[in-house]
Amino acid sequence: MSTQHREWDAGSYHRVSGPQLRWGRAVLDRLAPEGHETVVDAGCGTGRVTRLLAELLPRGQVVAVDGSEAMVERAAAELADLGDRVHFVHSDLLELELDQPADAVFSTATFHWIAGHAALFRRLAAALAPGGRLVAQCGGAGNLDGLLVSIDAAGARPDRAELLAGVHESWNFAAPEHAEQLMLAAGFAQARAWLEAAPVVLPAGGEAEEFLATVVLRPHLGRLPEDQRREFVEDVTARATDDGQVLLDYVRLNLDARAPA
Ligand SMILES: C[S@@+](CC[C@H](N)C(=O)[O-])C[C@H]1O[C@@H](n2cnc3c(N)ncnc32)[C@H](O)[C@@H]1O
Repeated sequence: MSTQHREWDAGSYHRVSGPQLRWGRAVLDRLAPEGHETVVDAGCGTGRVTRLLAELLPRGQVVAVDGSEAMVERAAAELADLGDRVHFVHSDLLELELDQPADAVFSTATFHWIAGHAALFRRLAAALAPGGRLVAQCGGAGNLDGLLVSIDAAGARPDRAELLAGVHESWNFAAPEHAEQLMLAAGFAQARAWLEAAPVVLPAGGEAEEFLATVVLRPHLGRLPEDQRREFVEDVTARATDDGQVLLDYVRLNLDARAPA
């Protein structure tokens, strides 16, 4: 992955990631740690969910991993008050190496950005202590299918079409059956995956535009010349607006797995 493809606008993500924070809380409810464990936050972003995870581990440790330098730097600044309870690692998850095996890997809103789930699950299984858990959520099959109609329509304009050809391959919105097979093949002893609708409605205009530009349209904007980016975001937002609102028809894929004891 090139550095450009890896990087995120951390300042904007920190502002707009209310939906991800909300989803993260529900995934933490599933994790329900005892409080003494070492847990990897795989794709920690700017650390908003990581802070909630650390609060659940008063006698434990968080290893916060992210492939974006801007994200790790922002997370480290945001969580400085937690001291050595949170350890930051700037690494691609596909190359993750830990000093000590972890009791759990937790992850939210990240795995759909990674093309190779077979390799990802192998790497995460290898990072776990015997009996360790994977508790995660990411975009799943059908994610944003409705919004994609607007994105495709805006992207079909002749001066954009060639630049954006194949751009949706940046996402890996997996089906639960396939994810279960891959987790078991990666060495997990038990694995369960299921989909969940998680729609988000944003007021049209600036708020929706910033969210789309920072999160959903990140791969598209990386391919368009700088002077065309704003117009593309406005075009997608206008096409997706209905009655003053933009519906983001998110579908989340939940993953629960356990390493062999
Ligand atoms: C949408 S953010 C989610 C951040 C946080 N978990 C949350 O829920 O707000 C996705 C994060 O995954 C990270 N990421 C994507 N692919 C990655 C990879 N292959 N290795 C490490 N981090 C990756 C990105 O840099 C980004 O910070």
